[in-house]
Amino acid sequence: MADQLLSTAPHRRTLPESYVRPESQRPRLAEVESDANISVVDLGADDESPIISQIGDACQSYGLFQVVNHGIPVELMLKMLAVAFEFFCLPPEEKAKLYSDDPAKKIRLSTSFNVRKETVHNWRDYLRLHCYPLEEFVPEWPSKPASFREVVSSYCREVRRLGFRLLGLISLSLGLEEDYIEKVLGEQEQHMAINYYPRCPEPELTFGLPAHTDPNALTILLQDPKVAGLQILKDDKWIRVDPHPNAFVVNVGDQLQALSNGRYKSVRHRAVVNSDMDRMSVASFVCPCNSAVISPARKLTGEGSPAIYRSFTYEEYYKKFWSRNLDQEHCLELFR
Ligand code: SIN
Ligand code: FE2
Repeated sequence: MADQLLSTAPHRRTLPESYVRPESQRPRLAEVESDANISVVDLGADDESPIISQIGDACQSYGLFQVVNHGIPVELMLKMLAVAFEFFCLPPEEKAKLYSDDPAKKIRLSTSFNVRKETVHNWRDYLRLHCYPLEEFVPEWPSKPASFREVVSSYCREVRRLGFRLLGLISLSLGLEEDYIEKVLGEQEQHMAINYYPRCPEPELTFGLPAHTDPNALTILLQDPKVAGLQILKDDKWIRVDPHPNAFVVNVGDQLQALSNGRYKSVRHRAVVNSDMDRMSVASFVCPCNSAVISPARKLTGEGSPAIYRSFTYEEYYKKFWSRNLDQEHCLELFR
């Protein structure tokens, strides 16, 4: 129900019971560390070979890196965040028109993660949009704020281009043809989650999003430049991915872990909230087409390294992902 949206009454004094995690599942924020070794890859560098090896190392060790000089204008990144925030400030009756808790819908405003299935809610509202092909979906997108469709579609076009470049670099880093991954993914889908995490009265007791891996191929995340919240699991410790000026965070999703036969890690990550500031993030998901058949690349398997995943279609995978709770074990484990 639309009245469950946090953005209708964003600044509460106490955390409602339905958001409180059991003691053993809380974020333990004081134990989270920072890590200066998360790569910031300069995509504007002339020589591509150091870029490729930096990306390959990061995908293996962290499953995540940041990129700068990525070609997307900073003004567009800022406009995207601004229009996203304005959207969540619209009056409740405007937002109620878009509300749905049906994950199959291609355009919907919702809250938490999967309110139909979960027992504890998450401190997040989100607008989920399918973005490709734009001509098909833009007419169904929110018509308010007035600049929403124009800003978000320009942003989506740019992100799609960046996604293709990154997939090419990742293919090369695995020793595959540059267009190998692109070909496997087929006519790629592109989805977006625009996340709004209002300031939270008791951030120690809940999550914006609990630990999960992304089911798609690659995620390109625009973080609020002033408010941290993304954390990743590395060697059994949670570490902060602090916003880097004008950067995108790129993380490996489950499909790249499968394609690379486990060489690249679909990183476990979570979003935490804080009591001082609202936080926005915009996640763009590079997805295979539904009929794409995903299996470990032949070149990466063979004697001594048998395929550790079976082949499956993305459609099959995606259904399985949404039928579960977000913080269950790695969905990919079910495809071995
Ligand atoms: C996500 O995992 O989709 C979002 C993470 C974030 O908001 O930083
Ligand atoms: Fe995610």
